[in-house]
Amino acid sequence: MTENNNNLQHIAIIMDGNGRWAKRRGLPRAAGHKKGAETVKEITRAAGDLGIKYLTLYAFSTENWQRSKEEVDTLMGLLREYLKSNLDELKENNVKIRFIGERDMLDKDIVDSMDKLEAETAANDALTLCIALSYGSRQEIVGAVRKVAALAKRGDISVNDIDIRMFSDMLYTKDIPDPDLLIRTSGEQRVSNYLLWQLAYTEFYFTDTFWPDFNKKELETIIQNFNSRERRYGKV
Ligand code: IPE
Ligand code: IPE
Ligand code: MG
Repeated sequence: MTENNNNLQHIAIIMDGNGRWAKRRGLPRAAGHKKGAETVKEITRAAGDLGIKYLTLYAFSTENWQRSKEEVDTLMGLLREYLKSNLDELKENNVKIRFIGERDMLDKDIVDSMDKLEAETAANDALTLCIALSYGSRQEIVGAVRKVAALAKRGDISVNDIDIRMFSDMLYTKDIPDPDLLIRTSGEQRVSNYLLWQLAYTEFYFTDTFWPDFNKKELETIIQNFNSRERRYGKV
């Protein structure tokens, strides 16, 4: 592997293409989501093996609530299964899990399982797996603006205290460094309301592979590509 001087700590992924993967095989979309959930486990293990410190996965967007009830139910069913069956493996691999997104939109049993997984993996320190669930970046930013405005209104801070650091701390991703690399599968080249603030200096990589076919080998190839890039941050 090429020398890693780009200090890759955090990979964010937009896991896209489950539906098209299934359609190509003449299967219902649900089959793509099911296979995609297996890929989540494979890529979590791979990221840990490759020494990545943070992996943030886009599992369900605020906009995805607009899909048919049948599809939302399928996705929530798979999520329940994942939450209920994954604790042992996360513990075994020393993975700390964290969820970002709007919890109010999710069913109570799901939120309870999320809380439980977070609590039971809180002391783990190999990989931090951050799952974006019912997540929308504009909603996250507006939420942060509200928090800052409330503090200023109460007089707890002055308007001049507001800076990048303080604002970052109001986001769901508090204490998580910005992604170094964003990968989107399935050939789409857009951000779809994901981590708009956090991606300010992230490197982007788009692959045509549908998420259910994504694997460790391709992840390694992408990491090699990332390591060969020059990150300039506005300097020369
Ligand atoms: C990604 O696959 C999973 C979610 C967005 C929940 P899609 O369901 O978007 O699959 P395509 O884009 O229709 O192929
Ligand atoms: C983005 O994929 C959201 C997730 C992967 C969870 P979508 O398939 O929802 O995005 P658009 O609609 O193609 O932009
Ligand atoms: Mg899609």
